[in-house]
Amino acid sequence: MTKSISISPGKVILFGEHFVVRGSKALVAAIDLYAKVEIEESSWPSEIISEGTEIRGKITADLKVIGSKELEPFAKILSILKSWGFQLSGFKARISSEIPMSAGLGSSAASAAAFSLSYANMLGYKLNDKELFTLSNEAEKVTHGNPSGVDSAAVTYGGILIFKKDVGIISRLNTLFSDKYSLIIADSGIKRSTSVPVRDVLILSEKLWPALSLIYDAADKIIDLGNEAISNGDYETLGTLMNINQGLLNSIGVSSIELEEIIYRSRLAGAIGAKLTGAGRGGSVIILAPSNKIENIIDRVKCCVKWASRIKISQTGARLISS
Ligand code: PMV
Repeated sequence: MTKSISISPGKVILFGEHFVVRGSKALVAAIDLYAKVEIEESSWPSEIISEGTEIRGKITADLKVIGSKELEPFAKILSILKSWGFQLSGFKARISSEIPMSAGLGSSAASAAAFSLSYANMLGYKLNDKELFTLSNEAEKVTHGNPSGVDSAAVTYGGILIFKKDVGIISRLNTLFSDKYSLIIADSGIKRSTSVPVRDVLILSEKLWPALSLIYDAADKIIDLGNEAISNGDYETLGTLMNINQGLLNSIGVSSIELEEIIYRSRLAGAIGAKLTGAGRGGSVIILAPSNKIENIIDRVKCCVKWASRIKISQTGARLISS
């Protein structure tokens, strides 16, 4: 039996998380950590296993999940494909992912995208990017409730993107990062949901909108300046903007002692910018540093992280690698 195999990059938000949920822009990059989904045709009920995790279970022919609730987004993808007129087949799927879960690195959007590509290919269909984005984002709605779509855009299209909710991708930055500067991810290892901090920030912004709207505007302006800094290769300004963005995220209540410790340690070790990435209150920190400071920074944050590593931008989004 032939297997359809797809991979999808994870993502890191350089600027604009949370603010993007209420209409500001976000600047996001796909990264070289990947989720892989292998699918082969089989009988119903279908089986899904996520390697190295407890997530496993079955999906019945009427799209009920038996087993881990984390499989609900995949049932949603199947129900959308059915609504698009596809005749569904039973299957066996194996997910293996380098992207840690609940760490702000887009693991759920990436698994959903790779699953969608492999499953559609098994049915003999090649999804276009728009369809892929829709399927990944509908799956994200099941996982997080109120996603802006930024994660699904990053994993679908790859590269560095400026994204706005309800508009989509505003621009794609074709600049490559200079070898003299690097991005490092430091994962605090503290797992958290996306939906709770997103909900709290929305409640806060409703309550104090006359003040908060200014913070949202500042976050939006940072994206324009960040875009300019990346295009001009002005890494010092880029790092400063990351630090300012961190201050804004702190002000809306999504940082934490643990994240601040990683951020300050990395700045003291030579980083020019460091901020939380994703929903916050745990998860990961993104650090911009001169490449000759990487080891020093990783050494200085290792007390306080699950792992820290240099990452690169993935210029391509989710794709089928074998069918
Ligand atoms: O799921 P996370 O932690 O990568 O967060 C996604 C970014 C948010 O802006 C917090 C939510 C969203 O949907 O944009």
